[in-house]
Amino acid sequence: MKEAIDRLVERLEGLAPKTALVLGSGLGGLVDEVEGAERIPYSELPGFPLSGVTGHAGAVVAGRFAGAPILMLAGRAHYYEHGNAAAMRPALEVLAGIGIDKLILTNAAGSLEPEMPPGSIMLLTDHINFSGSNPLFDEPTDRRFVGLTEAYDLTMRAAFERAAEATGTELHKGVYMWFSGPSFETPAEIRMARLLGANAVGMSTVPEVILARFLGLRVSACSVITNLAAGMTGAELSHQETKDMAPLGGARLATVLRKIFADGMLD
Ligand code: HPA
Repeated sequence: MKEAIDRLVERLEGLAPKTALVLGSGLGGLVDEVEGAERIPYSELPGFPLSGVTGHAGAVVAGRFAGAPILMLAGRAHYYEHGNAAAMRPALEVLAGIGIDKLILTNAAGSLEPEMPPGSIMLLTDHINFSGSNPLFDEPTDRRFVGLTEAYDLTMRAAFERAAEATGTELHKGVYMWFSGPSFETPAEIRMARLLGANAVGMSTVPEVILARFLGLRVSACSVITNLAAGMTGAELSHQETKDMAPLGGARLATVLRKIFADGMLD
């Protein structure tokens, strides 16, 4: 881990971002808005994941976004790739090691609410871990008993809400339910998810939230809705649809993020 920290610090050349942004589907284009961008492929950072999912390149991009220092993670590892929920642990440890104290996670998700159609964005207020897995399974210390009562930071959530309001962007709020993937859910699973209190379903983010809280980072997360969940329309779901639809909500979320950073709402 020390090697990755040293390499990253060296490449940042004095830039000391406090906030990292994980770019999910639909947000990848944000790296092009980073001024003075320093791009470091994951392959140069020991421990960083080499993701094989189409639409998820792997690089750290650091610089200024809307005028503020930022570190973006373009590409993440998913539990469904190798069944390793802790795949992002080394990368997040490195971020904590260089002084990042706030993490913003973004993802693509299926909506359980007809009034939250594709193109919507949903700020996570809580999650349900339905995967049966946990990124802290192998952690031997008592630190593994991480409290998640307030996993999604209230101050960061308030910043999202203010930025959405200021930019006239509709921001839904709700509970994200983590399914392992990679197969999509069945209609019966979606009916169950609704009964259990979920508003959206997806295959990422929750392990990173758990790891980030374990590492003491403050966290917020926002979903880009790419589809109504299984069984809600007649249509079959596909990864192609996720990729095709993500830019719609991605543009909305980008508007909110620009405002948050331009106005220093997280400082
Ligand atoms: N289910 C799970 N993950 C997803 C979905 C979905 O419907 N849409 C985008 N990611």
